Amino acid sequence: MSGMTLSAASLYDRVQRVIPAIEWPVFSDDIDAILKLKRERNAVILAHNYQTPEIFHCVADIVGDSLALARKAMEVEADVIVLAGVHFMAETAKLLNPSKTVLIPDMRAGCSLADSITPQDIRLLRQRYPGVPVVTYVNTSAAVKAESDICCTSGNAKAVVESLGVPRVLMLPDEYLAQNIAKQTDVEIIAWKGHCEVHERFTPEDIREMRAAHPGVTVLAHPECPPEVVAEADFAGSTAAMSDYVGREKPASVVLVTECSMSDNVAVEHPDVEFIRPCNLCPHMKRITLGNIRSALERNEHAVTIDPTVAARARLAVERMLAV
Ligand code: 13P
Ligand code: SF4
Repeated sequence: MSGMTLSAASLYDRVQRVIPAIEWPVFSDDIDAILKLKRERNAVILAHNYQTPEIFHCVADIVGDSLALARKAMEVEADVIVLAGVHFMAETAKLLNPSKTVLIPDMRAGCSLADSITPQDIRLLRQRYPGVPVVTYVNTSAAVKAESDICCTSGNAKAVVESLGVPRVLMLPDEYLAQNIAKQTDVEIIAWKGHCEVHERFTPEDIREMRAAHPGVTVLAHPECPPEVVAEADFAGSTAAMSDYVGREKPASVVLVTECSMSDNVAVEHPDVEFIRPCNLCPHMKRITLGNIRSALERNEHAVTIDPTVAARARLAVERMLAV
């Protein structure tokens, strides 16, 4: 989105299927202010697929899954990147484009997976499994990435694991992602015990109940869900892969077994598809609002910084992933 000729009034059409008209006045002032601030500050907004539709469809310049946001962050030429997502995403953007000011509107936007593992845990695992490469999910701190051989996302985990040409890898910290990938490859995968607090709550019974209530519904699940849940789904993939699936297959009705805002964002693009919406909210993603994006740009808050020695090593792990 260029932002040059847009205004909140002209943007409402885009989201009117998912934002009631009565709610729009709450957003429009912030949207106009953000569009203006982006021009003044030469800033771009990168938004994850779990951001609310008024952010995703009305102020973001670049949207996508974790992998796409990392790739696109590297190419940003603007002076300022506002990351509408969680802290590890902002850190990844800073790692890949260190000369830019990278802002996260709320420093508390964390992630249960990132919180589940420390650099010291990885050092201990290396002692326990000498010579076994460490593949780290991007949903981790830069300090954890710095202890890793290579990163992965849900969009490229299998390719990353297989690119190493070894019989065994440690894949951290998401136990369920590791188990789901293990089913697709001959590489032995040693997992950690971290979980996404949003996806771990879905159960196989949830899926069976959805199918019973909505016969014929297509079920797409994120691979952070437990393997028993993925086994009940028609397809599992990253947030971008789920979105692409809807665009490609155009199911009559679909349920996205993932964070709530994803369905709103994809529904905007596909008016002919019926979205069934049992979902779980990510409290971290929901910390980002139009209000704090606006104040991030007004006050230059909160700039992401990474210790240079940590950054150099963490960048290597992310760049190795991007080279796969
Ligand atoms: P994607 O990489 O599939 O976008 O998902 C990551 C995630 O759960 C972000 O919280
Ligand atoms: Fe972390 Fe899960 Fe939230 Fe993604 S959805 S940021 S993995 S807690």
